[in-house]
Amino acid sequence: MKFKFRKSLFLVIIISAFMVFAACKEKLKRSPKTIRAVYETIVVNGKKARVFNLVQPGGRRGFSGKKGDYFNVILKNDTDVPISIHWHGLILPNDQDGVPYVTQLPIKPGETRHYFYKLKQAGTYWMHSHYKFHEQKLMSAPFIIKDPNDPYKKDKNIVVMLQGFTFADPEEIFQHLRHPETADIFSSPAMHMKDLNDVTFDAMLANRHTLQNPKIYKVKPGQTVRLRMINAASASNFWVDTGSLEGRAIAVDGNDIQPIKDRKFQIAIAQRMDIEVIIPKEGGAFPILAQAEGTRQRAGVILATRGAAVPRLSELADTVAPALNDDQELRLHPLKKTLPDRPVTTVLNYSLEGSMKNYIWTMNKQAWPLIDPLKIKEGDRVEMIYTNNTNMSHPMHFHGHVFQVTSIDGKPISDGPMRDTILVLPHSTKKIIYDADNPGIWMNHCHVLYHMAAGMMTTTNYENYKAPVFYKKLIHGWLKESEAP
Ligand code: C2O
Ligand code: CU
Repeated sequence: MKFKFRKSLFLVIIISAFMVFAACKEKLKRSPKTIRAVYETIVVNGKKARVFNLVQPGGRRGFSGKKGDYFNVILKNDTDVPISIHWHGLILPNDQDGVPYVTQLPIKPGETRHYFYKLKQAGTYWMHSHYKFHEQKLMSAPFIIKDPNDPYKKDKNIVVMLQGFTFADPEEIFQHLRHPETADIFSSPAMHMKDLNDVTFDAMLANRHTLQNPKIYKVKPGQTVRLRMINAASASNFWVDTGSLEGRAIAVDGNDIQPIKDRKFQIAIAQRMDIEVIIPKEGGAFPILAQAEGTRQRAGVILATRGAAVPRLSELADTVAPALNDDQELRLHPLKKTLPDRPVTTVLNYSLEGSMKNYIWTMNKQAWPLIDPLKIKEGDRVEMIYTNNTNMSHPMHFHGHVFQVTSIDGKPISDGPMRDTILVLPHSTKKIIYDADNPGIWMNHCHVLYHMAAGMMTTTNYENYKAPVFYKKLIHGWLKESEAP
């Protein structure tokens, strides 16, 4: 009798705790923030351009929140095209990831969608359109998550988002890449090295400004500044140059690393790097520049103490920046051990192929969306091997997980960085591992927007995860014209 009573009391406690939890969650949900997809006009090289942006009321770009809090946001589409926004680098439930016709249907003009998920991580992330070529038209913004226990929390934070800009219509650029015989206006061979860039840009932007009119941030002598660098370019890998200041990289892709010191850092497309710099006691103006590989084009911000003379910098560097390489990657190690030691249970091979001639890019010889997804099971320790058989590098991104780099070109690295995007250099191989603990249909693709559009994209699927009907239609080519991406 006594035992039974205890048992039911226990049950009552459990049930009421659950109800309180559910009620709290409902209450939380009631006061969401709003992020709007909007048009805005920016000025590049003296000319006006109509681009997108993702803003909160009051004009703040993107989102910033605290680890452990909920991302509770109404996304409103105030443009006149359908949109779909992906929260890059976040570990979230699959159905919260805005990938059109894979996890969600696009949000129509004037409509809203409520996002609600826990912020499990801290660090520098970003959000961007995963639909058509909107990302090239700057539909992207920072997504910053602060950690109350951050060892660097006293730093002044400056978010620097890098983007490539073109006045051209990206759909047209893409058509010209596919049919090079018609490419006249877009080929300017003097501007770039072949195989490093297949698209020529009109400018590089840092926080939506060129170096003609760069953003200037007030800093104090002696201050430690944390630069949260985000490579949001659609097709440009960057070399970040901290100039006269020594930089100390403390995180990559949102994950803390054992700090490395340098003045030049590599940030591939879609990657992030947090770099600390210390403003000298004498003060002054300190440009932080980012130059696109294979070009002379650069963008940047200027950190300036009070009264400092701000130099005028050319948007073109004196020399062409070389290709990114693996030197930096080999120096990166996580600050804390993050993946437990255990054997790999599933190995997935992804070969990257492409042809510049008709501009078809593939993974395992399949071009998105007509793919045959590889499968993993919940509980697996997965190894993915990316083998690049092309002359271009590909920044490969896997959604919904954080992985560890374990081998570069057949050379095992014992303590590689935790990331969500890796640059796989031409004719080279990278291996990564992660634990399959987030069931869903997850995008796995090259982050060069034009390569994605040309097919270098697939999904990696959890066994027994119920895929949405639109996804099944999409990969079988059954999605009707009217509903297709
Ligand atoms: Cu940042 Cu699937 O992308
Ligand atoms: Cu690519």
